Amino acid sequence: MDSILVTGNGPLNGQIPIAGAKNACLTLMPATLLSEEPLTLTNAPRLSDIKTMTQLLQSLGAEVSSLQDGQVIAMSSHDLTSQTADYEIVRKMRASNLVLGPLLARFGQAVVSLPGGCAIGARPMDLHVEGLEALGADIELSDGYLHAKAPGGLKGAVHEMRFASVGATENIVMAATLAKGTTVLKNAAREPEIVDLVECLRKMGAQISGEGTSTIEIQGVDRLHGATHQVVTDRIELGTYMLAPAICGGEVELLGGRMSLVESFAAKLDAAGVSVTETEKGLKVARKNGRVASVDVVTEPFPGFPTDLQAQMMALMCTAEGTSVLEERIFENRFMHAPELVRMGANIEVHGGTATVTGVNQLKGAPVMATDLRASVSLILAGLAAEGETTVSRVYHLDRGYEHVVRKLEGVGAKIERIKGQ
Ligand code: UD1
Repeated sequence: MDSILVTGNGPLNGQIPIAGAKNACLTLMPATLLSEEPLTLTNAPRLSDIKTMTQLLQSLGAEVSSLQDGQVIAMSSHDLTSQTADYEIVRKMRASNLVLGPLLARFGQAVVSLPGGCAIGARPMDLHVEGLEALGADIELSDGYLHAKAPGGLKGAVHEMRFASVGATENIVMAATLAKGTTVLKNAAREPEIVDLVECLRKMGAQISGEGTSTIEIQGVDRLHGATHQVVTDRIELGTYMLAPAICGGEVELLGGRMSLVESFAAKLDAAGVSVTETEKGLKVARKNGRVASVDVVTEPFPGFPTDLQAQMMALMCTAEGTSVLEERIFENRFMHAPELVRMGANIEVHGGTATVTGVNQLKGAPVMATDLRASVSLILAGLAAEGETTVSRVYHLDRGYEHVVRKLEGVGAKIERIKGQ
């Protein structure tokens, strides 16, 4: 297995291009299942999760081609052959469950394995099921698979989610586009990836309003048509690389970045003493004076601080002046990076969903292990700021969500290389 070798070597300066959002692309791709006509996505990220979704769609009979070095994904669901999302593919990635709503809406039936994905908590699917049942679906769990049926088609309904789940919002919105009548989804998630999905669905002919707020209204239509859509910028990749100059010092411009995608996160950086400014091409992040100050963080649904940046923020807080408290409210088991950071000399105490981090003067390089996608990149950030060499193993987690991480960080002066495994 490959590993990544990072050697801390001081401030970073230059530019990093930010890719299209993994999480947007993973919900835009299943949207192809809603229509017989082609859907083309541009600005797609080159990631193993995208390959997994490609395999899943192909296993259903969709045609999926990767063009322009993977940045364009051309799809057609004209001749689908199956409505079953098999465990062998779904177990690799939780987002596979996003085929459920579209398949059910277009064919009146779907069989989808319960998902796997990052080991960061139980991550059930009850909210997806409740929403689709509200639209008239009949869903049963047997042999680890959800068997969903709506023989007479789905019907619009008013439904309030118990929690603003991102995936459940996406599945319900996609399903409702082809339901009869109007659906009002209350307590919907407000993430930019949902806004991006709705913009794409609208190009396909869907009638939707309220995206980006907690009430989304969908007027069902008979059919959707083809479209071309540009995937929104990845706010998590953006936030991750914003932390590179924050933790190492220097000044880095994140090309394609927008403040509206990372407002709450940028506010925390500002409070820590890191400047974030908008430029013509993106966002510029600079840390010019000494250590950052400690700040407290609570993860929340958008527009709150994203759980997907908690691990990376913890790496920064390990080097801060003072003590910070990081509270994880979205996932119950998302501090697996903490013991690895402790191996690098960090001072962290975890109690339930709260981590208390007291910054140290200097992290020390060490061999560490990536445990999930965001944890893996937090260890790389820590390695960039540490004295000596850090080897991060199990980097297949990283390949799920960060394209060209070595090239992007080398481009701003980091000493980082990928070591090929046996
Ligand atoms: C998406 C993102 C993921 C991010 C998460 C929260 C994708 C592909 N992934 O995941 O990177 O960390 O949003 O911002 O977009 N839950 C239930 N029942 C359900 C569904 C969810 O209890 O039916 C719980 C989960 O266990 C979790 C919380 O709700 O504790 C948030 O999950 P959700 O918003 O659904 O996240 P995902 O869509 O899986």
